Amino acid sequence: MNVLVTGGAGFIGSHIVDGLLAAGHRVEVLDDLSSGARDNLPAGVPLHVADIVDPQAVARVFEVARPDAVCHQAAQMSVSRSVRDPLFDAQVNCIGLINVLEAAARHGCGRVVFASSGGVLYGEVTSPAPESTPPNPVSPYGITKWVGERYLKFFAEEHQMATVALRYSNVYGPRQNPHGEAGVVAIFCKKLLAGEAARINGDGRYIRDYVFGPDVARANVLALTADLPGVVPGTLTSLNIGTGIGADVNELELMIRAAVGDALTRRGLGGMLPPPEHGTARPGDLRSNLVDASRAGNLLGWQPTVGLADGLALTAEWFATQVRA
Ligand SMILES: NC(=O)c1ccc[n+]([C@@H]2O[C@H](COP(=O)([O-])OP(=O)(O)OC[C@H]3O[C@@H](n4cnc5c(N)ncnc54)[C@H](O)[C@@H]3O)[C@@H](O)[C@H]2O)c1
Repeated sequence: MNVLVTGGAGFIGSHIVDGLLAAGHRVEVLDDLSSGARDNLPAGVPLHVADIVDPQAVARVFEVARPDAVCHQAAQMSVSRSVRDPLFDAQVNCIGLINVLEAAARHGCGRVVFASSGGVLYGEVTSPAPESTPPNPVSPYGITKWVGERYLKFFAEEHQMATVALRYSNVYGPRQNPHGEAGVVAIFCKKLLAGEAARINGDGRYIRDYVFGPDVARANVLALTADLPGVVPGTLTSLNIGTGIGADVNELELMIRAAVGDALTRRGLGGMLPPPEHGTARPGDLRSNLVDASRAGNLLGWQPTVGLADGLALTAEWFATQVRA
């Protein structure tokens, strides 16, 4: 299959590119490199540097790439930027998405997979939220992810495409961007590698469902390429992608400190890492957010395979390589 990955030079997108190549598919990438990097891509993968907000640029990329399927990861992905600049958020996350969907429809793409977010759709939930939970997005970013799913449904019905929205929880891992929804992992890794204390907002009792980037990539590869019951022309299927297991920021910091300590010890740089500092609480931070991914388990045969301690060890090792490269 020939797949176009928008945002493929970013964190999650580049893991999807790796997964698609490993499964024997042909991949091209559309990315404006605003937060992604060419270095995230394996040699030989065609990279079209273009802005999804520009309809002509998107059309030109589709002319060249002629994809059978589209994996749409490109987005303005910072919740705080969306609050500061909702217009920019809507331009990239709504207008950009429509440009991609229009081009996909024009080129007869059979399947479109969209990066949605369980982390921002469900709001405050104390047990893992199933897809039937009424959406309650509170930030412009959450609103554009929700609207994005509605556009997907419209295009699916109007143009007979099979569409899938994958509602990720908080995704972390090698290549991650500190500004994303699980940015805290990248921020703490970098701080601790510099020998500085991680700064925890408020009491740190903010529970999140952390899922490893390559596991999320595998869900995308399945959603794009597998023969799935119900994923047929004219439909939208929304699936949560997460672990259903919560960790709060205090536990996370302890685990990251241990993982960074091990990465430094392997480099002969062992020593005590400073304990965390506590700053002021951020207004509006949800106390608890978890997703129930059992539907993805049934439909895609997908399960997360990398637990938090192992994933953080791989992530800390990657950040250590970056800092000391
Ligand atoms: N990281 C998370 O925890 C998380 C959780 C839920 C959903 N998501 C979604 O997953 C997707 C990937 O996020 P990520 O964490 O890999 O972030 P990322 O910033 O690493 O990846 C986004 C990519 O899109 C590109 N991009 C941004 N604006 C663009 C534009 N106008 N035109 C073309 N390319 C553009 C960036 O250069 C980058 O390569 C996003 O849609 C994000 O909203 C992420």
